[in-house]
Amino acid sequence: MSVLIGGGTGFIGRNLSKHLKSIGYDVILVSRRPGPGIITWKNLKQNGLPPNCEAVVGLAGENLMNPLKRWGPSFEKELYDSRIKTTRTLAEVISKADNPPKVFVSTSAVGYYPPDPEKEYTEESPGGNHDFLARLAADWEAATKLSPGAKSAIRHSIVRVGVVLGRDGGMIQQCYIPFSLGLGGRIGSGKQWFPWIHISDIVGIYKHAITNPKVSGVLNGVAPEHATNKDFTSAFAKALHRPAVLPVPGFMMKLALGDVRANVILEGQKVTPKQTLDSGYEYEFPDLQSACIQLAS
Ligand SMILES: NC(=O)c1ccc[n+]([C@@H]2O[C@H](COP(=O)([O-])OP(=O)(O)OC[C@H]3O[C@@H](n4cnc5c(N)ncnc54)[C@H](OP(=O)(O)O)[C@@H]3O)[C@@H](O)[C@H]2O)c1
Repeated sequence: MSVLIGGGTGFIGRNLSKHLKSIGYDVILVSRRPGPGIITWKNLKQNGLPPNCEAVVGLAGENLMNPLKRWGPSFEKELYDSRIKTTRTLAEVISKADNPPKVFVSTSAVGYYPPDPEKEYTEESPGGNHDFLARLAADWEAATKLSPGAKSAIRHSIVRVGVVLGRDGGMIQQCYIPFSLGLGGRIGSGKQWFPWIHISDIVGIYKHAITNPKVSGVLNGVAPEHATNKDFTSAFAKALHRPAVLPVPGFMMKLALGDVRANVILEGQKVTPKQTLDSGYEYEFPDLQSACIQLAS
């Protein structure tokens, strides 16, 4: 069985691809650049899905926290096009396929839900319109719609991804050195929710959505244990046997990243993976302590 992963060259995609290959799947990646086992988006549009493709996964998206990109209209467009246009391309080729895949698993983000110190969100909670990132998530989800002529039997899941913690990418790659030098600390008040998930579990949730014929609809891609930024700071520093007493003030985050990106870190959502758990997914790292011990080892 082969799986096509759009945007599969990134942090989540590399780990998902490695895992799928280890359990016997053929994996084809879609990227802006061709390579071994990689086709381009242009090639995919021209030639359609490769034969025997039984699952399609969408992961493409310009990195929101890219430190080389300043926030502004052109970066907003890049964030938008890299998610929505690629997802539309996947939906189009699936819709046109003579032998369509069994399942389409696409990506969204917990930024769909409005940050709130108290409210708890499940997959059924409303969202998708309070700010730019929420609308981006809603449009990203809407872009998965197949055309009316498509075969109706294609199963579809959307994973609303939280902050993915793994050694080879994302947030941990950026904070590992400061924390291991004892220069870590909470960000802002530290009281904001931190909707985290270990990389092994986000990979596990995508695999669960690909392989379990009963799974469909939205799955929150977060761990079941709720944590704040302060909880994460303490747990990660403890796992590294280092102090973490140097808080980063909110205004410095805003100066460095701009308001929209800083607010992703300074405000957070309390997200529960209700549908993920109800659909039978079993977490490898359900609690922050065990996840941080693995990340520090
Ligand atoms: N990691 C997290 O904590 C997190 C949290 C929430 C949501 N997400 C979402 O989950 C998805 C995968 O995350 P990740 O951490 O694996 O991201 P990543 O490492 O930044 O990789 C994303 C992929 O998107 C592709 N891409 C980047 N800019 C693009 C553009 N302008 N046009 C087309 N493709 C582009 C890249 O493929 P090529 O360079 O090969 O073309 C890359 O492989 C992303 O959409 C991200 O927004 C991630």
